[in-house]
Amino acid sequence: MYHAILDRFPPGFLWGAASAAYQIEGAANKDGKGPSVWDVFSKIEGKTFKGTNGDIAIDHYHRFKEDIALMKEMGLKTYRFSISWSRVFPQGEGEINELGLKFYDQLIDELLKNGIEPMVTLYHWDLPLALEEKYGGWLSRKTADAFVEYARVIMTRYCHKVKYWITFNEQNVFMQLGYRLAAHPPGKSNFKEMIEANHIVNLANARTITLAHQIDPSYKIGPSFGYGPSYPLNSDPNNVLAAMNADAFNNDWWMDVYARGHYPKVLLYQLEKAGLAPTILEEDHTVLKNAHPDFLGMNYYHGGTVQVNRFEQKTKSESKRFDQTDPYQMSAKNAEDLEAKLFETAKNPYLETTQWGWEIDPVGFRIALRKLYDRYELPIIVTENGLGAQDIVEQGKVHDQYRIEYLKSHLLEMKKAITDGVEVIGYCAWSFTDLLSWLNGYKKRYGFVYVDRDDESERTLARIKKDSFEWYKTVIDENGENL
Ligand code: BG6
Repeated sequence: MYHAILDRFPPGFLWGAASAAYQIEGAANKDGKGPSVWDVFSKIEGKTFKGTNGDIAIDHYHRFKEDIALMKEMGLKTYRFSISWSRVFPQGEGEINELGLKFYDQLIDELLKNGIEPMVTLYHWDLPLALEEKYGGWLSRKTADAFVEYARVIMTRYCHKVKYWITFNEQNVFMQLGYRLAAHPPGKSNFKEMIEANHIVNLANARTITLAHQIDPSYKIGPSFGYGPSYPLNSDPNNVLAAMNADAFNNDWWMDVYARGHYPKVLLYQLEKAGLAPTILEEDHTVLKNAHPDFLGMNYYHGGTVQVNRFEQKTKSESKRFDQTDPYQMSAKNAEDLEAKLFETAKNPYLETTQWGWEIDPVGFRIALRKLYDRYELPIIVTENGLGAQDIVEQGKVHDQYRIEYLKSHLLEMKKAITDGVEVIGYCAWSFTDLLSWLNGYKKRYGFVYVDRDDESERTLARIKKDSFEWYKTVIDENGENL
């Protein structure tokens, strides 16, 4: 779709930046905070880059006023951050830790004092350890009950102060990495368990959305999803079908539940036949149907390219790569993992990648916005988008032109999507300050503000504004007029 002139960003557009508690706060044992699963997982040898963890992180817990002063200087309209559940409920449920809440009282008040709209994520992966140990975490409906109670406490306390709420950050990511690929806590590799735990998170999500609207009907609440559109490798209809399968498997499985209140039928049918479908109780249908998110949060980094699955490829003369002894093929035959039957990933020949091998695909961002809006017709808040890179300090400055280029190209595509007709109400760059990358330590930086620390030591933790800081300040000031 060509536009000679692009629409303006709507008035009141929420220009923002984002973070997550474990990645910035530090103060891991301070003021009565209980441990989270990440506090333990990050200490297991070999799990994170050089054993990095969030014990101190960038010490935002003690420096939040300095950080908010920088946000104010930048002109941020909104700041998305997450609350550490185990800071508030050290055991995940039961007794409340007032000191933990006090930190968030101060944080929220400081943001409001500086004219910045707080956007609160209730869950950004740091499940209280006690719930993992006591109930088996998300495999138990008791964890969902505890979550809803925690959400009730938070959403009641900050009534009249916070309007925008995110339930879960990237449910697809913490489910896949946690229960299938063993790269996040609880470190499991069990597809069926992933499907079961995921269903329980769906219930927690739906119940929290319904509860939010009961607490305050003017609340705006939705989940944040790690969304990447699927491309077929080429116009071979088999590959087009593979891309449909990949979208169902990677996106619709979650988004349909959020926005439509039920699982996508074709994929559910496949899971049922393989004995992998979630245990859905009669009352679950109503819980899922009754929840109406006000927006969909989209975290966009990149999509993925796919081709026809390896089993059907085998029947073609040009593809002889897969033989009967391929272990992955065998496991898929046993229906332990459905993915191999649906599609196979492929390299996209058109896209360059970041230093960490992530595809750089600004047009994919427009595609993602279009696809989500076309399918669900809900407003979208981009809750994350950004470039992870190794920044270098030269004479006290960080010249991150590459980040400016990355963000600029994505904002331009977002503006095109808005001109196409997509309702986007906010954009939060990832991230405001540099922070801990869960598996990549402190070397992979995303912030507009450099933090003087590395993987080995906390150094001075001083904040340095990067070139991208001034650039984004101007973007906000001009409401994205001159991209
Ligand atoms: C998103 C998460 O998946 O991607 C963030 O919500 C994360 O918490 C971000 O930091 C970037 O990922 P990574 O692995 O580069 O730190």
